[in-house]
Amino acid sequence: TSPKEQYRPAYHFTAPQNWINDPNGLVYLEGEYHIFYQHNPFGNVWGHMSWGHAVSKDLLHWQHLPVALEEYKNADDSTQTMIFSGGAVVDSANTSGFFEKGKKDGMVAIYTAHKHANLKGLAQYQNLAYSSDKGRSWKHYDKNPVLDIGLTDFRDPFVFWYAPGKKWIMSVVKALEYTVQFYESPNLKDWKLLSEFGRQGDVSKIWECSSLLQVPVQGQNQKKWMLMLSSGHRQKDYLAMQYFVGDFDGKNFIPQKQDEVLYIDEGKDFYAGIPFGNLQSKKPVMIGWINDWEYANKIPTEKFKGAMSVPRELSLKKTDAGYRLIQAPIELSFIDEKGIDLTNIKVKENLPLKYKGESYELKAEIEIGAAKTFGIKLLKSEGEESVLIYDAAQKRLSFDRTKSGNISFSDRFPSVESVVVKPQNGKITLQLLVDKSIVEIFANGGEQVMTDVVFPTKHEGGIELFSEGGSVVFKKLIIRTVVKKK
Ligand code: FRU
Repeated sequence: TSPKEQYRPAYHFTAPQNWINDPNGLVYLEGEYHIFYQHNPFGNVWGHMSWGHAVSKDLLHWQHLPVALEEYKNADDSTQTMIFSGGAVVDSANTSGFFEKGKKDGMVAIYTAHKHANLKGLAQYQNLAYSSDKGRSWKHYDKNPVLDIGLTDFRDPFVFWYAPGKKWIMSVVKALEYTVQFYESPNLKDWKLLSEFGRQGDVSKIWECSSLLQVPVQGQNQKKWMLMLSSGHRQKDYLAMQYFVGDFDGKNFIPQKQDEVLYIDEGKDFYAGIPFGNLQSKKPVMIGWINDWEYANKIPTEKFKGAMSVPRELSLKKTDAGYRLIQAPIELSFIDEKGIDLTNIKVKENLPLKYKGESYELKAEIEIGAAKTFGIKLLKSEGEESVLIYDAAQKRLSFDRTKSGNISFSDRFPSVESVVVKPQNGKITLQLLVDKSIVEIFANGGEQVMTDVVFPTKHEGGIELFSEGGSVVFKKLIIRTVVKKK
């Protein structure tokens, strides 16, 4: 790899060049998964927001397509309208009337238009665009906007077909009021307010990118409704995502509990995640943006900036405290044979592995012995390491990136974050997706998740197991290099 591309992940989605942030319009149509994404076609920082586009048959190999929706010049003045986040649907019954009679594969995008009007200041409202050729070319609806409440921070529509009521439902945020609004429509053009949900959960920063979906409960023949959204994380003072589990009756969302705060990912770098709105599969699939607005524009990557998570399958687990989200990355079907399989390795102090790599999947099952702390050092070179540490007394898993490599581009970057991971039968399990500058950590089968970016400079890709204050046994340790098949 050229030094410029040193941080480009091998199996995480990035734009061919330039900036990305939120995934948008995740939609499935006739064998193709579509991802649209917040994109600056002209530079490697946020700006000129447009919808980039790619398609995939397996959610792992993506074919890049031309920009789908471009920032446009306003007719009434010299300013521009940016295309902010939103959703996309397949209007198979042609409820919108945008398509030819009998056409079942018409696609409609519902996006936030972000307009800088000279005299009136800033405005945000919801617009439509439609495509008759599977998302390859788009027309804006000539009667836009379809939803404007005269509020500046009003954005990120997520739309899905609500079969019991035979209608479209939209969730959209009043970002600075910590409020999600739900609307209904028979035709995607006329929207009627149903209800509001908000001012609870985490209200420490802002609310963005909400979505409402049904999620199956493990071991039960039942689904619950889940509202997820992007927000602050009040203990960490960074951005994060939170979720509420409850019921939706076609009008109101009612959470399982008041005053409950549940986060999706306890790392620093998982934001603006949304699900595919129209998958027939049992489990919904979510993709999130791997970055944090605290330093997103400053990360030291060239040619590209920002990446998407590996798609995650979502389910719920019923616990005594209520329903909890379980996330599992989809199977990495393009895993290479190269790797290691070890069983019953007793670790007493430091144990460097023979295997080295920067793009791999690691699975471990660890029996907690007498060790006080133990863990795995990743992306290790002389003087650099990204460290996963488990504290047995506190039952806490931490990720320490303070010595991970280049940490100097922002004083908000070096950090240690942690999450409680309770041993099950004296063991914890880890699944790590390491990819050049990305570490996705799934603990105990996806009950706890942390996602972080790191920027090692020496690229030796060392891995070292360690234990302090006693020994620990890695019952299983499996590593597979991940390469993208052409
Ligand atoms: C979330 C967000 C959205 C907005 C978009 C603009 O990351 O701030 O609320 O639509 O990014 O790029």
